[in-house]
Amino acid sequence: MNIAVIGMGYVGITTALLFCKLKYKVVGVDTNASKLEQLQKGRLPLYEPGLEELLNRHLTQHTIAFTSDIEQAVKTCDIIFITVGTPSKADGFTDLRYIKEVAGSIGRYQNAYKIVVMKSTVPVGTSEKVREWVIENQSQPFSVDVVCNPEFLREGMALYDALHPDRIIIGAERAEAAEKIKYLYTSIASPKLITRLRTAELIKYTANAFLALKISYINEIGRLCDAHGVDVGDVADGIGMDQRIGRAFLNAGIGWGGSCFPKDIASLMHMFEQKNIKPDILPAVQRVNETQVTYYIQRLEKLLGGVQGKNISVLGIAFKPNTDDIREAPAMKVIQKLHQKGAYLKVYDPVVFKHRQLQLPAMVCTKVEEAFEESDCIFLLTEWDSFVQMNWEQYLPLMKTPMIMDGRNALDGHALRQIGYMYYGIGKNEK
Ligand code: UDX
Repeated sequence: MNIAVIGMGYVGITTALLFCKLKYKVVGVDTNASKLEQLQKGRLPLYEPGLEELLNRHLTQHTIAFTSDIEQAVKTCDIIFITVGTPSKADGFTDLRYIKEVAGSIGRYQNAYKIVVMKSTVPVGTSEKVREWVIENQSQPFSVDVVCNPEFLREGMALYDALHPDRIIIGAERAEAAEKIKYLYTSIASPKLITRLRTAELIKYTANAFLALKISYINEIGRLCDAHGVDVGDVADGIGMDQRIGRAFLNAGIGWGGSCFPKDIASLMHMFEQKNIKPDILPAVQRVNETQVTYYIQRLEKLLGGVQGKNISVLGIAFKPNTDDIREAPAMKVIQKLHQKGAYLKVYDPVVFKHRQLQLPAMVCTKVEEAFEESDCIFLLTEWDSFVQMNWEQYLPLMKTPMIMDGRNALDGHALRQIGYMYYGIGKNEK
């Protein structure tokens, strides 16, 4: 069985390499020639631990190839995964242009029965439309099944998550098609749930929105913890022991970002609106996340007596550790807001600036100590291991005001206070 994966983004590359690892022959398809050239040379166009080694192994074994020739890929593969982007606008409208184009090409070049598998996150009902778009473009009436197999992997953990998913969701309208896709994953021990097509689409959005909800909830509780001098981490531990709640995704901080949560929540809200149903919970989840940045900045202004003319150094710009992704990163919002308020900004990230050149209203440091020099506050916004584990004591004398604002509640506040820092997190303040 040959597999084509169309769209060499995060999900596409991981999916392609996963199936190579599961001993299938895979062809990765994309329209971006320079990306294909890089991949063919064994270079990953993104930062993701473990994936580049796997890519090189499968290039050497000739079990993976990359092409822009979608016609050839469709003709030679039985199963075609669609992993192209589904950008969404601020109002939640999801742009299905790329999906429609790919579906059209599949129809146009179809030469036998095919299973088209939707991995891209798409609004409810899209997979059914994909089948129509394929059929509309066929030159002869070949049969086609569309299956929705959403991806739940986290950036920075892509390979691990792909190999050890909590569950594999397979949505289909025909049991035979679902079974064929289930068979692909035989050697992965995770539970597999077969559902209707639309159900699988909605599971993906509901899961992401629920995770964001957990974070927004603990962040709101964090504000109350601040007011009472209660440690929000202890509250999270205490409620997390209840198996119905669970401890995961209850780490309070500056809020959630990334390429999925903001887009998927906006898109889910749009789905409600289209059916004239008013969601109450989702807007609140969004609102807490938006006001969280303001909450931190107001505290900083209070602590420093205003931020105008103050030297503030941001540690970490990625939306979370182990990725160079800055999409919807809270750090970007913090930098913009502090700049507007007249602060002098420096920023250091151990990975992002090695991969990206960014236009920022901040001085980019090449070493972490530069961020400490003459600084009035270190604002930690990505909890990279190198920050959590570094020797903070050696940098204290470099600072003008030895203040740390821990936007991720990732540091040992007690130890930092003992060595002379003024340390603040959310719900971490001693009363
Ligand atoms: C998420 C989902 O976890 C994944 O299942 C889905 O496929 C894609 O979206 P990802 O965007 O890679 O994955 O990041 P994730 O690890 O979920 O973190 C999202 C954001 O929430 C980050 O900004 C992170 O810093 C923040 N977060 C996470 C918290 O603030 N607190 C937490 O307890 C957990």
